[in-house]
Amino acid sequence: MLNTLAQQPADALLALIKLYGDDPRTDKIDLGVGVYRTGQGATPVFGAIKAAEQLLVDTQDSKSYLGPEGDMGFVHALMPYIFGQVDPTMQGRIEGMQTPGGTGGVRLAIALAKKAGCPRVWMGTPSWPNHAQIFADLALPFQPFNHAARDGTVDMDALRGAIAAADPGDAILLHGCCHNPTGIDYSPAQWDEIAALIAAKGLLPIIDLAYQGLGEGMEEDAYGLRAVLAKVPEALVAYSCDKNFGMYRDRVGAVYAMVADPATLPVVLSNGATLARAAWSMPPDHGAAAVRIILNDPALTALWQDELDSMRTRMRQVRARLAEAGVQGGVDFTQLGSQNGLFSVLPLTSEQILTLRRDHAIYMAGSGRINAAGLTMANIDKFISAVAAVNA
Ligand code: LMR
Repeated sequence: MLNTLAQQPADALLALIKLYGDDPRTDKIDLGVGVYRTGQGATPVFGAIKAAEQLLVDTQDSKSYLGPEGDMGFVHALMPYIFGQVDPTMQGRIEGMQTPGGTGGVRLAIALAKKAGCPRVWMGTPSWPNHAQIFADLALPFQPFNHAARDGTVDMDALRGAIAAADPGDAILLHGCCHNPTGIDYSPAQWDEIAALIAAKGLLPIIDLAYQGLGEGMEEDAYGLRAVLAKVPEALVAYSCDKNFGMYRDRVGAVYAMVADPATLPVVLSNGATLARAAWSMPPDHGAAAVRIILNDPALTALWQDELDSMRTRMRQVRARLAEAGVQGGVDFTQLGSQNGLFSVLPLTSEQILTLRRDHAIYMAGSGRINAAGLTMANIDKFISAVAAVNA
């Protein structure tokens, strides 16, 4: 039977990690998969995480099972950062579960929506390629609309049109901040409008918040999520600590459900637990435990926030430097200055992207997405002139 399976292409983004690793050129530039890098090109473990891990080693007295919901201390410690000062009407209406990374959170949110009878999900494209893959794997139809206009701003008309065309009970998946891949986020005024439109139409929002703190700041990056949740009766939130705690391979994430009636919350969570049990039984503990330790310790929390602030500051410096380059070889770098997070998309053809890799040792996703964290003051000029050269 197994010989009937057709060969599947490797995940294009993850394949870049190996291609880059195998390239012997010393001046190579990795703008592929979304990990933060310092000005020296490293992705170090946060100091706050190292300290929390040490505490964990010293104090953890068992590695016995927790359960499909994972570490609820972690799940609850994150909530004030995500949801802020919870409005009294939301008391008792939000609860979560730990998941293996943000991907586990997205997977569980979409699976819950499907199990609850949601017939399809609307989503702006381009999006993180794994979103569409998860819809396909769960056999939940997805309806794309255009996320960004040609001028590098949000295509609000396309979004308004999508919500107008949607049926009540459909879901809409939105990136909470640091849109992946475009870096083009909604403004607070746009979020307010979106929240009102979603509420009026009766759509179920699924908000993917994978980069909180890497855009404008922890509070600012939660604006849209909170604006939407303040207007709607029900919502699902997928959360990742993989970037803002640098926990990538430890897979630290969560899914939260907001329900209309607190009495239904245990039922929703029991469905989450059943889905999780069948998929991964329970999430890996170590990373979430380290995050919980940080968030329960004011000194470690302050250290983590400093580290996150310096990451965001560096991203803004790289973006400012790109924007300063202006238009080079027909590519307008100015727009990259106002975009958020790690990613932006350059208008390059597949051939130009391959030429950048072959002739300039510059690695980026086939969509033209760059991870701007791979740029440093030492390689940014080479990058700008190489892009201008292939586009000339
Ligand atoms: C990315 O988009 O590069 C990250 O979210 C990593 C991943 O899992 O794709």
